Amino acid sequence: MTDDPRPGETGSGTNDSAASGPDPLFAPDDDETTTLFRDRTLLEVGTVPDSDRIVGRDEEIQDLAGYIRPVVSGAAPTPVLVYGKTGTGKSLVSRHVSERARAEADRRGRRLAVAYVDCAQHSTEAQAACAVARALNTAAGSPERIPLKGLGRSHYYTYTWELLETHFDGAIVILDEIDRLQPDADGNRDNILMQLSRAREAGKIDTDVGIIGISNKIDWGKELNQRVRSSLGSEELIFPPYDADQLRDIMYAREDAFREGALAEEVIPKAAALAAREHGDARKAIRILKNAGEIAEGRADEMVRESHLTAAKKRAEADRLLELLSTQTPHAKHVLLALASLTEHRDRDEFRTTEVFDVYRLVCANEGIEALKLDRVRELLDEQAFLDITEAHVTSGGRGAGTYKLHRLLKDPDVVRNCVNSEFGTTPEDLEE
Ligand SMILES: Nc1ncnc2c1ncn2[C@@H]1O[C@H](COP(=O)(O)OP(=O)(O)OP(=O)(O)O)[C@@H](O)[C@H]1O
Ligand SMILES: [Mg+2]
Repeated sequence: MTDDPRPGETGSGTNDSAASGPDPLFAPDDDETTTLFRDRTLLEVGTVPDSDRIVGRDEEIQDLAGYIRPVVSGAAPTPVLVYGKTGTGKSLVSRHVSERARAEADRRGRRLAVAYVDCAQHSTEAQAACAVARALNTAAGSPERIPLKGLGRSHYYTYTWELLETHFDGAIVILDEIDRLQPDADGNRDNILMQLSRAREAGKIDTDVGIIGISNKIDWGKELNQRVRSSLGSEELIFPPYDADQLRDIMYAREDAFREGALAEEVIPKAAALAAREHGDARKAIRILKNAGEIAEGRADEMVRESHLTAAKKRAEADRLLELLSTQTPHAKHVLLALASLTEHRDRDEFRTTEVFDVYRLVCANEGIEALKLDRVRELLDEQAFLDITEAHVTSGGRGAGTYKLHRLLKDPDVVRNCVNSEFGTTPEDLEE
């Protein structure tokens, strides 16, 4: 996500030569020019906080370290699957613990590699295996180039085993968003887990490999094939959502993103309460705080106050939804629009697939495009549930009625409408009106 452009920074008519001074179009994002922020980067989504800013996850850090600990001293670690809803600190804690393990191993004179792979980005087995090999290659400081494409998965495993044997005493492989791995031609989506967890046993390496698989789909482990389950064991760590107190502490630990006195006292507790009420997502809490600052700044207010929070929350939701929508087809958006419209106009919030389908067809007719068939719309609805934009459950209609699926929108219908429209020209800032 990028910051909103400030007035003047995107203006045209700045083609003058160097003689006229720096081009404001490329001015650094200099916080000295802002009145409310001291260091905005502390609230950026991509920022990985220092360990002293990680709050409220001591138990999870201890538990995860318990699984990983053997690899630091040269024994076989237990593979572990980490589950929890979005924004509960899974990626953060996994990276943090792995990095501390690496540092401690280093202190003991042992070389430990940490390979972090985002399976949402590397979603075939070959891509994920390639990413592991490349991460190890980088950690080893090896001059060898591992090609991104063109090799089969077995070649990437060979690279991996060679790198481990040559350069390291142990390794931790983090497979984040592991539920996004696509099945291979035989329908297996867990072969990489199999390969990594069995490599030593199979005599391919003499190095211990710790595996951390991360997913926000609580049931994902159950889908694993029996072979993998037996070699992985069934060790699981569940990260619960943050409560309001924890969210408050997480935000207080980054209070110095703002200038002294720029933040009204009630802002953080109120923002924490808002974020805790829905899902206890730390990422969202931090986004709300940042947006509140930007909205206050945009209005040239001298302080961030509670009154900025409602708009900030809507914008945080809009940002996230826009991210999720950016990879979806127009039809998915029309399906969501249909569900939003039902939610707004009926006095209930759950709707059958066929009800959504009927409204979706009206939306398409309005837009002058041909509607997809019911089966395809059903698939699109399943995707929305996978992305946590909606929630679905199967229910029985009572005697003789059979079972059917009900869909509920998890986002504010207003936000959905504005985000979908923004893809066709309006902007999420309109939400603040
Ligand atoms: N305990 C914490 N202390 C401080 N900041 C936190 C904490 N937990 C989460 N955060 C912040 O929230 C952001 C999201 O956390 P993280 O990426 O670990 O979530 P996640 O559980 O992996 O979510 P997802 O399932 O969406 O990937 C982090 O980048 C960090 O800025
Ligand atoms: Mg994550």
